[in-house]
Amino acid sequence: MLRSHSCGALRISDTTKDVTLCGWVSRSRDLGGMTFIDLRDRFGITQLVFNMDDKPDLCEQARKLGREFVIQVKGKVLERSNKNKNIPTGEVEVLVGEMKILNASKTPPFTIEDDTDGGDELRMKYRYLDLRRDPVRKNLELRHRLAKAIRNYLDQEDFLEVETPVLIKSTPEGARDFVVPSRMNQGEFYALPQSPQTFKQILMVAGFDRYYQIVKCFRDEDLRADRQPEFTQIDCELSFVEQEDILNIFEGLVRSLFSEVKGIKFDAVPRMTYADAMKYYGNDKPDIRFEMKIQDFTEATRNSGFVVFDNASMVGGVVAHGCASYTRKQVDELTEWVKRPQIGAGGLIYIRLNEDGSIKSSIDKFFSEEQLRSFAEQANAKTGDLILILAGDEPKTRKALSELRLEMGNRLNLRPRDTYAPLWVVDFPLLEWDEESARFHAMHHPFTSPKPEDLSILESNPGQVRANAYDLVINGVEIGGGSIRIHDRSLQQKMFSLLGFSDEEAQKQFGFLMNAFEFGAPPHGGIALGFDRLCAIFGGVDSIRDFIAFPKNNSGRDMMIDSPSTIDDAQLKELGLSLK
Ligand code: AMO
Repeated sequence: MLRSHSCGALRISDTTKDVTLCGWVSRSRDLGGMTFIDLRDRFGITQLVFNMDDKPDLCEQARKLGREFVIQVKGKVLERSNKNKNIPTGEVEVLVGEMKILNASKTPPFTIEDDTDGGDELRMKYRYLDLRRDPVRKNLELRHRLAKAIRNYLDQEDFLEVETPVLIKSTPEGARDFVVPSRMNQGEFYALPQSPQTFKQILMVAGFDRYYQIVKCFRDEDLRADRQPEFTQIDCELSFVEQEDILNIFEGLVRSLFSEVKGIKFDAVPRMTYADAMKYYGNDKPDIRFEMKIQDFTEATRNSGFVVFDNASMVGGVVAHGCASYTRKQVDELTEWVKRPQIGAGGLIYIRLNEDGSIKSSIDKFFSEEQLRSFAEQANAKTGDLILILAGDEPKTRKALSELRLEMGNRLNLRPRDTYAPLWVVDFPLLEWDEESARFHAMHHPFTSPKPEDLSILESNPGQVRANAYDLVINGVEIGGGSIRIHDRSLQQKMFSLLGFSDEEAQKQFGFLMNAFEFGAPPHGGIALGFDRLCAIFGGVDSIRDFIAFPKNNSGRDMMIDSPSTIDDAQLKELGLSLK
């Protein structure tokens, strides 16, 4: 070993010990007679002292060290006169007797400190320097701790970790596939898995009973803060279970992770139907850290003569507690906010329940005070509250109300990062109608089982069929989703035909799975949690990039290795892809 201790190890009890440390020069201060250097490694920072009187040559050498030089020092541990309470090694320093420069460093393009001056792209290009920063390293340490706790829990629950292939054929999870050309089978392509869905089901047919894998998945979709083209799932499947069993086991996982990693204890995770989530929160992943449910005023406002309401299929609102005092300017600004293309509302209507008991609205011309008061009563709004109303086409208005609710939640500090509200959303519809292709799509995926009680209307009224499907939501983020699967060949075939597959297409693409169902497939179901999202939630940030060692930017590029990139013609020819 080139060192006796790490840079985070020494304490007051180590004083007078002779030690050898290695690390990066983080900061240096030259005080004339003495030079101080903060030496950093993954484990911490130790202060080094070079004494001019004692070792003038060494001190000269230390003064010339640049930031991020890698050095090895030998010296004695001393008690510090000027103690630093903020770091664990802050009571000691090492008086250096010998030093060796192990490697020099160019000046880094940004400062390696908690608050860096480096922009996103620069930090991604020099990711190895970014990873030296404390906050980024801590995120990856959190990721490691979570992975370890997840493995422990699943191991205790008898799950077996099995690896599934990465070169496969397309699995329909709703995104585009990344494809890989085959050299040996020219004109043919592998697809990278969007998830190991079909393989984990085959493992159930194989009798593995309980499977899990912390696994890379690939989806060629538009990127956002919570989406990467390659991301990691905690992918699980279980045999001989019902929905209730899966919810219980994974609620147990969530509880044990929060307790072990964050020291937070939860009671049971509440459940909400998809229908209620859409009705009260306007989306299928409600943030239930705060109430502010969507209020439906459609019936109450019918035939008022106010053309905006009369032409709308939905008039809905949210009550912002204590916001009656919003100034005109604030309301105008909110109005502009809801009109942004991302939100898409035509305008914003308000009812103010003033502190003096009066009521004032932007629709006074069309509604009597009595009517306004009845809206307020219906919405359970009190003196001092502000009711914000949107109107228009129902799905769009619900979505806009959902965004407005979240925005007001932010403005009123109702979404603190250190408060966690997990939720199961259950009873998803099996299918959703897609206008563009004029056919049904599977809301989760085509292997999801309909609820047995809805099977009778599968052909007559497919849009109304509910699925044995569930999502785990934490703080308004979809952390995971799963379902009880179809394990019967004829039902699976029926499902494919509802989704517009001909028998031949279904057989060509999924024959292997349907064939396997004919050899004793057990009833089974499972779930996959987005591991990057879980880490980000635990870390209290929105972007999953901060929890991935080498992430892609918003255009799907790895800035460090500069990929994707072109390949030369010889390689293209070999793959049968050359156009020349
Ligand atoms: P689903 O498609 O819902 O289910 O994915 C499961 C979870 O994976 C995470 N996730 C992502 N995270 C980061 N970037 C992405 N691009 C991305 N896409 C999805 C989400 C999501 O909830 N095979 C099924 C699971 C099952 O039925 O068992 C599946 O993949 O947190």
